[in-house]
Amino acid sequence: MAKIIVLCCLIILAAFGSVNAQKIGFYELKKDNITLKFTNWGAAIVSVILPDRNGKLADVALGFDSIQEYETNKRNFGAVVGRVANRIKGAQFTLNGTVYKLIVNDGPNNTIHGGPQGFAHVVWNVTAHSNVGHTPYIVFTYHSIDGDQGFPGDLLVTVRYALIGHNKFSITMKAVALNKPTPVNLAQHAYWNLGGHDSGNILSNVIQIFGSQITALDSELIPTGKFEPVKGTPYDFLEPRPIKSKINGLAKGYDINYVLDGGVGNKLKRVAVVQDPKSGRVLELSASAPGVQFFTANSLNMTGKGGFGYKPHAGLCLETQAFPNSVNQPNFPSTIVSPGKPYEHNMLFKFSTN
Ligand SMILES: *[C@@H]1O[C@H](CO)[C@@H](O)[C@H](O)[C@H]1NC(C)=O
Ligand SMILES: *[C@@H]1O[C@H](CO)[C@@H](O)[C@H](O)[C@H]1NC(C)=O
Ligand SMILES: *[C@@H]1O[C@H](CO)[C@@H](O)[C@H](O)[C@H]1NC(C)=O
Ligand SMILES: *[C@@H]1O[C@H](CO)[C@@H](O)[C@H](O)[C@H]1NC(C)=O
Ligand SMILES: *[C@@H]1O[C@H](CO)[C@@H](O)[C@H](O)[C@H]1NC(C)=O
Repeated sequence: MAKIIVLCCLIILAAFGSVNAQKIGFYELKKDNITLKFTNWGAAIVSVILPDRNGKLADVALGFDSIQEYETNKRNFGAVVGRVANRIKGAQFTLNGTVYKLIVNDGPNNTIHGGPQGFAHVVWNVTAHSNVGHTPYIVFTYHSIDGDQGFPGDLLVTVRYALIGHNKFSITMKAVALNKPTPVNLAQHAYWNLGGHDSGNILSNVIQIFGSQITALDSELIPTGKFEPVKGTPYDFLEPRPIKSKINGLAKGYDINYVLDGGVGNKLKRVAVVQDPKSGRVLELSASAPGVQFFTANSLNMTGKGGFGYKPHAGLCLETQAFPNSVNQPNFPSTIVSPGKPYEHNMLFKFSTN
């Protein structure tokens, strides 16, 4: 009996040993006609395979074939970005009288996506994974230590992806501050191309974004603190229209945070609808975050899955999140998470065809 218990313990240790070793791997979730692949490098979505209006399958998320490319590339393909997504002006902030200095990784002065070793560029633990039953799911966790990239306090982050219903998946992001208050802003950084990741650019996609205002930007793409109505500007997607229809009014393309109209709170609200007229694929996104960064991959230039060359506008990102640089912008909703006051961000991705 004792021998059996010892053997069981050894088997359990071996299983957890591989978790401790933080082996980087690929993981799959499949239900009906949708298949998702992930890696625990950055808790990233690697691929999303779906039928078009004729039942033909394609992978609609940009990414790489090998773990090694994920480890060396900085484009955040499909990854969870944090501890604070988007830009922080001057790579610093003050919290309760203490100045916290971060690492500059965006232009000469600013921090983006939590710093060079932000959550998109580290190995996460896989703490649960089930590819059977009604709701296949996977859970990634990351313990970010006190001082990680300059941020205060230990933070325990959990990201759960689940296939629910038909061609639909949810993401639940949670973070618990273990000992100190800290800013937290997590976002999913998938690059979508509903025609297929290797189909060219997304400029003919028709998009609707449920945000009547943007956070106006300074010359470094950081909010000034002012809100501006989109009505009549190139940012106006209140009614569905092709992405390309007014893109010439912008320097390189879209890289802008919308204030979502549904108000704040943990309830899901409509974020955007994207339609690809050619394949008929449609993505409807809802989320609980106050904003969404709409980014059209304006200077993309690299080789992705299958050796395909990803050029500018090869994909689009809809990164739901808090407003950029909130930690330095007192008139924006606070992003400070304290012990006993956890962070939560829910997203729902619903695919269909028309
Ligand atoms: C999966 O796709 C096939 C081919 O388009 C379709 O006939 C079938 O109804 C789909 N399955 C589900 C569960 O929707
Ligand atoms: C702010 O700092 C004071 C003094 O160091 C400390 O007593 C207090 O707990 C801090 N408040 C928070 C929210 O961390
Ligand atoms: C970066 O900061 C320096 C020093 O404050 C300033 O002179 C420079 O203009 C800043 N660069 C940009 C692009 O704002
Ligand atoms: C992964 O899990 C192990 C075992 O529980 C833990 O020691 C380690 O800190 C975790 N790593 C991260 C990055 O969360
Ligand atoms: C794209 O990358 C290739 C290979 O690194 C390089 O030769 C080319 O100049 C780049 N193009 C642009 C527009 O940056």
